This record gives sequence, C-alpha cells and structure tokens, in this order.
Amino acid sequence: MSDSTPKPPTILVIDDDAEIRYSLSRVLSGRGYQVLEAPSGEQGIALVKKGPPPDLIFLDVRMSGMGGIEALQHIRSAHPRQLVVLMTAFGTAQTAIEAMKYGAFDYVMKPFDPAKVLALAQNALKAHADLRAVGDYKPTINADDYREGIVGSSPVMQDVFKVIGQVTASDVTVMITGESGTGKELVARSIWKHSHRASKPFIAVNCAAIPDNLIESELFGHEKGSFTGATLQRLGKFELCDGGTIFLDEIGDMALATQTKILRVLQQGEIQRVGGTETIRADVRIIAATNKDLEEMVKAKTFREDLYYRLNVVRIKMPALRERADDIPQIVDFCLQNLVKQRKARVSKVSPEAMALLVRHRWPGNVRELENVIYRSAVIAQGDAILVKDLPVEIGGGSSAAVPGPEVAPAPVPADAAEVPPEDPAQRLTAAFNTIFSELKGDGVEMLARTERELLQRWLAAHGGDPVAAAKPLGLTKVQLQKKVKEV
Ligand SMILES: Nc1ncnc2c1ncn2[C@@H]1O[C@H](COP(=O)(O)OP(=O)(O)OP(=O)(O)O)[C@@H](O)[C@H]1O
Ligand SMILES: [Mg+2]
Repeated sequence: MSDSTPKPPTILVIDDDAEIRYSLSRVLSGRGYQVLEAPSGEQGIALVKKGPPPDLIFLDVRMSGMGGIEALQHIRSAHPRQLVVLMTAFGTAQTAIEAMKYGAFDYVMKPFDPAKVLALAQNALKAHADLRAVGDYKPTINADDYREGIVGSSPVMQDVFKVIGQVTASDVTVMITGESGTGKELVARSIWKHSHRASKPFIAVNCAAIPDNLIESELFGHEKGSFTGATLQRLGKFELCDGGTIFLDEIGDMALATQTKILRVLQQGEIQRVGGTETIRADVRIIAATNKDLEEMVKAKTFREDLYYRLNVVRIKMPALRERADDIPQIVDFCLQNLVKQRKARVSKVSPEAMALLVRHRWPGNVRELENVIYRSAVIAQGDAILVKDLPVEIGGGSSAAVPGPEVAPAPVPADAAEVPPEDPAQRLTAAFNTIFSELKGDGVEMLARTERELLQRWLAAHGGDPVAAAKPLGLTKVQLQKKVKEV
C-alpha cells in the first residue's frame, strides 16, 4: 500500500488450519495490510469483541469447534457492518446461500489464487469505504410525489402534468403515446383518479394480449349460446365499467372489426353484447394508449381513420426517459423508498458514482427498466447504499446477475445467485464502451480526452488514490498521470 495511507487496514484471518493462516497472512501483509490470526471461531470472536474490530475478516467455514457460519452470525450480530469473507474447500449451494444470507460480503473457494485474494480484499475494503463516503441521505422527492405516484420535475413532464390537469374536468377522449415503459398506464390512472369518475371503476384492457376472436366478448360481453363455449351470459368490460374509465392499452393491435364497434361506443355511447340484439347505454370514458405509429397505420389502412380522429382528441406524448435524464435521481429515490415501504429491500441510498451511471444510461425500456435495475441492485447491495459494483454490467456496473427484461415484473434475484460465474472482463469492457461511445457527441477529440480522464480517475481511485502505485503499471510517471487526470 502507499506511504500516504496513515494506518493500513487490519485483516483478521480465522482458520483452524495453520498453513492457510500462514499463506494468507503472507499474501496480505505483503501488500501492507496488518494481519491478525485466530485458530478457531471462538478465539476469532473474542478478538473482534475485544476490539477495535478489524476492517475485514477472512473466515473459514469448516473448523473444529464453532463453524464459520455460526461465527459469522455472532460477529454480525455484534457488529452489523463488519466485513466478512467466508472461505471453504467444499463448495455447496447451501453454505454459499447461508453465507450471503447471514451477511458475508463474499464467499471464496480454497485453494486460493493470491492475486484473487488480494483483489477481493481490495474490493471489499473499497466497497466499505464507498458506503461510508455516501454519507447522509437527502430525499429528492416529497409527499406530493408519493400521492401521485408519478415523478418528474423536468419541463417535459411538467407539461404532461398540466395536460392531465386540463383533461380531468371533462370526459374528453385521450390518446397517450410513447415508448414502452414510459408511464402511459400511470398517466391514464392519474387522469381517472382526478376526474369526477374516480369513485367508479378504472378498467385496463390490453388489446394486444387478447385474441381477436375473444376481444369483442371481453369488451362487450355475450349472450348465452352466442358461440361455442358461451354457456352463460357474460357482461363485458364496458358494462362492468359503468360510470368509470376504460383504458384501451395497445389500441394499435385491435382488429378492424373491433375498431368499428369502439367507434360506435364513442359516437353513440352504446354497445351490444355479442349475439344480442338489445342496445345498452355505455357511460364510459375512454383513454387509449399505443406505442405504434397510428398515423402510419391509418395510411396503411390497418387503423380506421375515423376512429383515429375520435380517439386523438387530446394527445399526450410520453417522453422517453433518456429525454429527461434529469428526472432519473428522483425516480431512483422514489423506487427505493417504495421498495423499503413494501419491505422488499433495505437500501435507501445510491452512491454518487452509481447514480452517474444510472443518469448516463440510454434506458431503452424506460422507467420500467430503471425500476427493475433498481430493484435488482437493491437486493444485491450489501450495505445501505447501491454502489457501482451492484449495478448490472450493461449499464457499466460490476454485477452480472440477470436483469429481468422490460416485460417481466420485478422478480427477486435467485437464491443461488452466489453461484453465478464471475463476469467476463472483456464482455464488461465492451458493454461499458458501448455506453460511452453512444454518448460521444460534439467535439470527438475533446470527448476522447474526457473519456481517458474519467478512466484514469477511476484507475487512480482503484489504487487507493495513490498516484505512484497507479502510474507504475501504466508506464507513466506520477506527474504524467496527475496531469492527465486533471486535464479536461
Ligand atoms: N414518471 C414516473 N414516475 C414513477 N414511476 C413511473 C413513472 N413512469 C412510469 N413509472 C413506472 O414504470 C412502470 C411502467 O409504467 P407504465 O406501465 O405506465 O408504462 P407504459 O408506458 O404503459 O408501458 P407499456 O407500453 O410497456 O405498457 C410502472 O411500474 C410505473 O409505475
Ligand atoms: Mg402499458
């Protein structure tokens, strides 16, 4: 370690095998760490309790006397933030799962590769320092955001909110367009909640998910015996929604025959059940949404022009998340607070470096994708803040656990995530550069210099901020490195 570090971090090695203690101590102290040793779980705990607690503990799982998992529980209950890495020669799913469940930072297999052990110690200590550096949490959202459930102070979102306010007083038909995951349904619900129909139902119908031959019955109901399988009379969504608001999602996927019937509801306010003759009044407000280009569909005659004009009385165009990147910290905050409230996660903060990556990402799946990433990272995170290492590789983070796709509801990370193989560094690098190069706009030379500077800053940080240690492997002098890091 560098001379500039005043006190080297202390690492306690608890193992009943003297050889392991010896070899680990040698590797670690060779890097300047101060190493303590304990030959049993009991003695290790006594050392930790006597204090001051070490910065990091390497703890063996199988020991005569108290086992590592039990010792881990003792240690973490006395010092909940204590960093512990468990080690074992016999990897089983159960111990790996238990290790992570009881709060180990990581779990490694013997025999060790000294370079890996050192990298692990460095990563663990860095994560710990990063967590401390995140500091106090300042919420960026207020109680109003919670009530509405829609977050965004960017000008584009403020415009959306204004239109919502304008259309709530009447029954005007609203068409919401925008990419997947931008909040179309959320906006539809908000219009309903603020309207005079709020005490009546809001029913969402996903036109893309219902087969063409069933959608009419779904929407308008059917009479007994009207088709094979129609053994009973059934009320459709329009009748069930009486007095309320119906949300026709993915309207671009609706068959032409059904479009005709929707037009009739809009023009005459009435419906007929499939197979029925009776005309039924339908007092329903319609809000429609699509991520298709309806104008193109009208030209191609796959969407009725008259229906298009009827639906498109007021249009709300939802901006893509990348067009309002300033809103990202607020949305992240909002997602985290919701997860905490629902007891799905305990993490309430994001480190500034991790937030910078979140703000820079392109988010093809928009807010839904961001929500999934936050959920998954919050579950993975080991302290009270999400760090870069907890974010998925795709957005420049260090975690290779799978992220649910945009269409998949957030799912807990599988319990055996600890067994996911280590990520391929080359693949990580490519993903990170894809992001960087998609952002390279303006003066190319200046952007490349900036990219180099950013990379070198991180490299320097990864070397504990020690310019001599960071410069050497690059074949640079300390001064050359410092100059590059400062240059814009
Ligand atoms: N501005 C926002 N603030 C907070 N959460 C949001 C915001 N916009 C969207 N969300 C959340 O993102 C997720 C996706 O939103 P929603 O289902 O409304 O999108 P959509 O546009 O209907 O997507 P799709 O086209 O895929 O159906 C939801 O969980 C929603 O709560
Ligand atoms: Mg939707």
